[in-house]
Amino acid sequence: MDFKEHVIELIMNITELDRETVEKSIEIPPDEKMGDFAFPCFPLAKVMRKAPPLIAQELAEKMSDDEAIDKVQAVGGYLNFFLNREKFISETINAVEKAEDKWGSSDMGNGKTVLVEYSSPNIAKPFHIGHLFSTAVGNSLARIYKHLGYDVQSLNHLGDWGTQFGKLISAYKRWGDSEVIEKDPINELLKIYVKFHEEAEKHPELEDEARDYFKKLEEGDEEVTALWKHFRDISLVEYQRVYDMLGVKFDSYNGEAFYSDKMDEVVEILRDKKLLVESDGAQVVDLSELNIPPCIVLKSDGATIYATRDIAAALYRHRTYDFYKNIYVVGIPQSLHFKQIFEVMKKADWEWAKGCEHVGFGLVKLPGKNMSTRHGDVVLLEEVLNESIEKTKEIILSNGSAVDNVDDAAKKIGIGAILYTFLKNSREKDIIFSWESMLDFEGESAPYCQYGYARGRSILRRAEGIDFKNADFSKTVSDEEYALVKQLNGFADAVKAAADKNEPFYINRYVTNLTKAFNKFYNTNPILKDDVDAETKKARLAIVDAAVSVIRIALGLLGIDTVESM
Ligand code: ARG
Repeated sequence: MDFKEHVIELIMNITELDRETVEKSIEIPPDEKMGDFAFPCFPLAKVMRKAPPLIAQELAEKMSDDEAIDKVQAVGGYLNFFLNREKFISETINAVEKAEDKWGSSDMGNGKTVLVEYSSPNIAKPFHIGHLFSTAVGNSLARIYKHLGYDVQSLNHLGDWGTQFGKLISAYKRWGDSEVIEKDPINELLKIYVKFHEEAEKHPELEDEARDYFKKLEEGDEEVTALWKHFRDISLVEYQRVYDMLGVKFDSYNGEAFYSDKMDEVVEILRDKKLLVESDGAQVVDLSELNIPPCIVLKSDGATIYATRDIAAALYRHRTYDFYKNIYVVGIPQSLHFKQIFEVMKKADWEWAKGCEHVGFGLVKLPGKNMSTRHGDVVLLEEVLNESIEKTKEIILSNGSAVDNVDDAAKKIGIGAILYTFLKNSREKDIIFSWESMLDFEGESAPYCQYGYARGRSILRRAEGIDFKNADFSKTVSDEEYALVKQLNGFADAVKAAADKNEPFYINRYVTNLTKAFNKFYNTNPILKDDVDAETKKARLAIVDAAVSVIRIALGLLGIDTVESM
């Protein structure tokens, strides 16, 4: 039974209000002592020409006995509903058990495709902490939309095209040492790229050389293309190491290069629609009515740019996937860029452009490291992941807990701690990493939730042989038991809210609160103690089983693994 729905219907019956009005006004009281749902009678005062407390009183008297409701109380201008705990608990626990991995899921997305573009690092450039932030948010959003039944495609829009590749090729031809590069590809490519810029200041003719190389690349010159492909391949190997550590998978790595031959058509369309105007020799779309700078489509030398490729990519995605949503998980500094291209698309009368959305995120500061140094950032990033794993291992070992596979656990907890930190707050907030809070097993952290899960699993292991299916919940209706099951019941709402706002932190907050409720429950309600009678034992075990299952599913939506013991 959907308890909220049931309460809505009861209110509709006694007030004769329409569904929409009731749905909108029904509240969840801030204090559990005030019941599970509250209906404020203030809006009725005008129509009924009575004081709200009196209305509440009258409505309470109108309520007839109901098996799902224990009592209805008029307090002030509110009508407070108290659900029947036993019925609520038994129905919820049975539903969680039955749903298994699908608890909190929905079919609302059936038949609709959501594209989540995330990570998108730049070839031969460091995969920096911003890309990691994008990866954490995007991976979680992809999982959340999947849970809601959408067909999700994870896209990695690699930065693998642009005039900088002409410079890189020129630099490689002059100073590249393939053996050195093979050992540490991205750092070495970055070094010669930086050297190119230094040298080009003294010898401007290098710029011409680079332009020629990029032209050759655009024309498909065999040797130059092979070099470009090689840079792309060796960079991907490095990124893949990070993706493997994080358990992230993409359906497509079509980057900017993929769209290099799809831009002519876009330029044609924009020209046909009379959207292109000349500005300092460049072809731009004027956006002054929005008070934003024009979107450059062709530079004065006729070359296309980042924005042109993005417009071509959006059109391609529309044709290929007929998407319902096309989400770009990219840092806030690129907000203007997305505003511009979305506006251009709307001006081109592409109806589907309204499905495009920029999902931005804030800046990240690492403890004791200066993130502004460009050099060595790749190593740094893997270093951060490895450091987290190392530190976790130390904590596990010093705790003296009996963990089967310390390395595996340290990896799942250490990586989980980092992902959790990215998803802890609303994504637009800046983040400061702190090892103390990240790895605080008792604070709001991934290890805290993972620990709760492991505790629950250990209880279930010790209870092996006890069949807790069809438990009787008449005696397991304490405040802690009820609060925990209410959390379990609220999962679907959290998943929907997270998708609605593209905010994985709703899931993060949910699983943290769920774990808190679970801890409180097992700290106050003995489960396997001898003096617990058999029926209560069964009921509490069923609650534990449901709780660990939902903690696991919710952490999974954040991309965080669980461990059996820690
Ligand atoms: N490669 C870009 C960067 O590192 C991010 C790409 C964002 N996606 C897009 N479709 N423009 O800044």
